[in-house]
Amino acid sequence: DAPTTVHWHGLRITDQMDGSPMVMSPIAAGAAFTYDFVVPDSGTYWYHTHYHQIEQFERGLYGALVVHEARAPVFSAERVVVIDDIRLDADNQVAPFQNSGPDVGAGRVGNLLLANGRKAPAVANIPRGAIERWRVVSATNALGFGLRVRGGVVRVIATDGGIVPAPWTLTRVEIASGQRYDLEVRPEPGAVEVVLEALIFVTNSAGQVVESPFPLLRASVAGEVTAQEPVYPTVVLPSVDATPTRHLTWELSGLSDNGVVRFTINGQSTYVGEGEHVTLDTFTPGEPVAITLSADVSPAHPFHIHGQFFQILARNGVPVTDEPGYRDTVEIRGRDKVTILGRFENPGQWMVHCHISEHSERGMMADILVGDVPAHGH
Ligand code: C2O
Ligand code: CU
Repeated sequence: DAPTTVHWHGLRITDQMDGSPMVMSPIAAGAAFTYDFVVPDSGTYWYHTHYHQIEQFERGLYGALVVHEARAPVFSAERVVVIDDIRLDADNQVAPFQNSGPDVGAGRVGNLLLANGRKAPAVANIPRGAIERWRVVSATNALGFGLRVRGGVVRVIATDGGIVPAPWTLTRVEIASGQRYDLEVRPEPGAVEVVLEALIFVTNSAGQVVESPFPLLRASVAGEVTAQEPVYPTVVLPSVDATPTRHLTWELSGLSDNGVVRFTINGQSTYVGEGEHVTLDTFTPGEPVAITLSADVSPAHPFHIHGQFFQILARNGVPVTDEPGYRDTVEIRGRDKVTILGRFENPGQWMVHCHISEHSERGMMADILVGDVPAHGH
């Protein structure tokens, strides 16, 4: 009974089909809108509401999207695990939404982990000798966590933007809200189960904050198969050593405006539905631009750029080597200064925002223009 739009997170489609409420009017309850686009890139993506997100997101308006490679590597099985944390009250209803306090400061965190919309873990069987592809999507509102696999020999083969040039062995990887990782999973010799786990900070009974593992997917090892080695397409990404033509800074912040919390990018806020929005920067398609993101509010901001990919160059000026691959979302932790390199190629008007709904809907949102396009208004 509410209006909505659908955003295809990560897909480099046209801005008209992107579901941005800055570009399209929300679809009224009972009305229909046909999204019509051609998927340009293979990879693991997702779709979600982009309207009244604080509530619609928490209530589950999201799902995974898989775009297969033109010559897709063959696996014994492919699995998709969409992770969310929902906050339920004592009657197992979605708990009331808060307008102040930690939910606004840090973003709403749940009290129940979901895997594909059901109480985690999802369960499966995996035969000895199998080589599987597990596509992991984080649809949490704010919760970032570590990912690891027990009982498996695992490599990371893809990030937000698809297959990486050089798969790497997974011991643990951090996943922020909105990010995706594809894992190549083989049962370890002698393992009885292979378990995908989230490593999450929780307060224990002694009041200490400790990191604890929570199972997301529990695969029992049963049976045996012989699998062929998957053949990955050759992927070459643009060099991160290119000299950027410009170096921009985007400062994430917040303030209290007559007692109302407002979040900002470079001091400005965008509110959906108010007709006015901020154009942060304009890009020439393909030009290498470095952007340094920083924050002085909240524990973390998973920052997302619509319709484009980028690479993560540095954290606090130190080159990053463990976050390779094309991304559309990057975690800005604490007071970190994170530098990304974009060669935005997809023309149009694109949203950039923190993926924590409490932040984006309170202003931590803007548009960028790529190419010679007029800004639309809604
Ligand atoms: Cu997944 Cu504008 O967001
Ligand atoms: Cu944020």
